Amino acid sequence: MPDTESVTRRPPGPDEPVALGIDPETLATLTGLRDRYGDMVSMTKPGGREAWFVNDPAEVRRILVRRHAKYHKGPGFERVKMLLGNGLIVSDGDVWRRSRTMIQPAFKVQNVHRLMSVMVDCTAHREREWRRAAEAGEPINITSQTSDFALELILRCIFGSDYETELAADGDNPFDFLSKDSTRDLGVVMKVRELRQRLLALIAARRARDEDTFDFLSMYLQATDKQGTPFSDDELLDELMTLIVAGFETSANTLNWVWYLLAGHADVERRMIEEARACLPDDGVPTPEHTTAMTWTQQVLEETLRLYPPVWLYTRRSIADDELEDYDVEPGTDIYLSPYILHRTERHWPDPGRFDPERFAADGTARKERPYFPFSLGPRRCLGEYFSFLEMKIHLGRLLPAFHLRRVSAEDPGLELGINLRSARDIFLQPELRQA
Ligand code: HEM
Repeated sequence: MPDTESVTRRPPGPDEPVALGIDPETLATLTGLRDRYGDMVSMTKPGGREAWFVNDPAEVRRILVRRHAKYHKGPGFERVKMLLGNGLIVSDGDVWRRSRTMIQPAFKVQNVHRLMSVMVDCTAHREREWRRAAEAGEPINITSQTSDFALELILRCIFGSDYETELAADGDNPFDFLSKDSTRDLGVVMKVRELRQRLLALIAARRARDEDTFDFLSMYLQATDKQGTPFSDDELLDELMTLIVAGFETSANTLNWVWYLLAGHADVERRMIEEARACLPDDGVPTPEHTTAMTWTQQVLEETLRLYPPVWLYTRRSIADDELEDYDVEPGTDIYLSPYILHRTERHWPDPGRFDPERFAADGTARKERPYFPFSLGPRRCLGEYFSFLEMKIHLGRLLPAFHLRRVSAEDPGLELGINLRSARDIFLQPELRQA
């Protein structure tokens, strides 16, 4: 007689193996499995590994928040490791805990506020380019514009004045391939190697200079763990690469989608312009009070992140026994969670495809009651959330009152579902100068 106590309870799912990656086929597969089997689905991957798709909001929260220590980062992160070594986003367990404790103070709001002037400067850089394009009647590639904006910004915030004197001095920005080349092939491996060498030299020069600068590099250099030990050079390199990659592509993609959506929603755009004119000073650096007052822009950004969460699929691998609903998770199980799918599920978000920033009104229920996690949840939640809202509010608050960006094509830009959710095609918009 089998011992009924030891029978593992698995969610329903298909008998045949299921291939899962981080790609469009996986989105179709997961959505199909959800429709057929419900919010908890188990399956076997071609190599024999067990995998679950968890689409139940309470269980998603449990995995990311209370039980997070039972789950490590999952499949897909191997490829990212090529770029980020053992930096915060890919590390687990004690290594992650130590780094997180050392890095978190750098993201305190007072520190982020000190970087607002850099956000203003990088926005002014875009404004000059867009003005030229508007006057020449030439469309801009908003996908590369937002990418260049977010990359320049994070690099200046990390390296301060070294960015201009040491990194971009010869006009050949060694980080450019990050925004231009989305493949992670051998060429990129070589470029990453070269880059690491350059950064090592820069770190050594900084250590030797011992001057009073304020940027992420200086904060990371001063950080120590509980034993008083600072980051080694290799650890520092991994953390700097992590900050660059985590910090630019996500914000860039969000801004890309915001501009695209605004070009098709004149009423939403008008309210944002009115708000920016009322809240932001005409020139100079806004204060945190100014940006906090931009509540409509905040709602627009939140709604954009509901429709297009840059990290559309999270993967985890269980490292201990767990129980989700009435099912038993065994160690070694791959777990898939998708904000993209949950954010677009009719049961949770009525008329989910409609762009409607009113969903996030302060008196609404959206934030509390509906599944929403573009920045993840729990102890591994994004560290750059506040930073990204500030940079996006300053970018939009300054550029929207100056320019209307008109769509030049009715073509849908499509979705590229990789590690990040991007538009499949670059989006071109025609800047038109607004009357003050
Ligand atoms: C719209 C903008 C952003 C979005 C949607 C976003 C989203 C996320 C998500 C979903 C994660 C967790 C990934 C996972 O657990 O698998 C994450 C982690 C992280 N993000 Fe962001 N991010 C954004 C901007 C930024 C910025 C601007 C920075 C830095 C300036 C940043 C720094 C980080 C770091 C350091 C982590 C790792 C945290 C950890 O593992 O402890 N992010 N982000």
